[in-house]
Amino acid sequence: MKKLLIMMMAVLAACSLLLAGCGGGEKKAAAPEKIMRVATEPSFAPFEFQKEGSKEFTGFDMDLIRAIGKQAGYKVEIQNMGFDALIPALTSGNIDVAIAGMSITEERKKVITFSDPYYTSGLIIMVNKDNNDIKTIDDLKGKRIACQIGTTGEKKSRSVEGAKVVAFNTQSEASMELKNGGADAVINDAPVVGYYLAQGGDKVAKTVGEVMEAEEYGIAVNKKNTQLVQDINKAMAELKKNGEFDKIYKTWFGEVKK
Ligand code: ARG
Repeated sequence: MKKLLIMMMAVLAACSLLLAGCGGGEKKAAAPEKIMRVATEPSFAPFEFQKEGSKEFTGFDMDLIRAIGKQAGYKVEIQNMGFDALIPALTSGNIDVAIAGMSITEERKKVITFSDPYYTSGLIIMVNKDNNDIKTIDDLKGKRIACQIGTTGEKKSRSVEGAKVVAFNTQSEASMELKNGGADAVINDAPVVGYYLAQGGDKVAKTVGEVMEAEEYGIAVNKKNTQLVQDINKAMAELKKNGEFDKIYKTWFGEVKK
């Protein structure tokens, strides 16, 4: 009986050693963590910005890409870049993903791939509060328009006959130029203008006219990276299904658009 007990104990000990060995082996064999190198241009609240005195990226896009990364098994690393540098950084392979309230356009689609759209936006005109001459885009002819480099707002500004267009590196500088009287108007994305006005900008500025044609935002990826765009779309669909997307949407925009 005693012998049997000792034998059983020996077998048990051998087993646990074997198991421990297996566990260790498993760890070594585990796939290295996938990294998603993300870039954004953070002068675009509430989509991407840095709170005063903080280096951390915050906003709707930032929450969304972090949630997508988590869902798809990527470690998300976010860096700051000029808006006009995002697409070149994607095509050269310096980054994997650009998320920056970037509108899906035919022109951009020639060089990069977009994920499924995740937000419907559009351009709007902002002027100083005391300006009563500018009511529509036609009133901007020959006027000074401030905008951000490389954006659809810049493209729209340049389409205005005789307009003197000043394109800035950041959206904040364009709004500042208007405030300082260096420009007669800003053309920018409506939700960003709305947020700016709600955050106190309405003391000095206002919007005029309606939102110009709808633009949809997409997450941009290198054309060759078909796996990544598939992973992003799959993860986004899952986040929409499990309510996480709506939760993030509510955090930044209040009620959920259906
Ligand atoms: N939606 C516009 C575009 O795609 C403006 C985007 C600007 N984004 C930014 N993060 N500054 O051109």
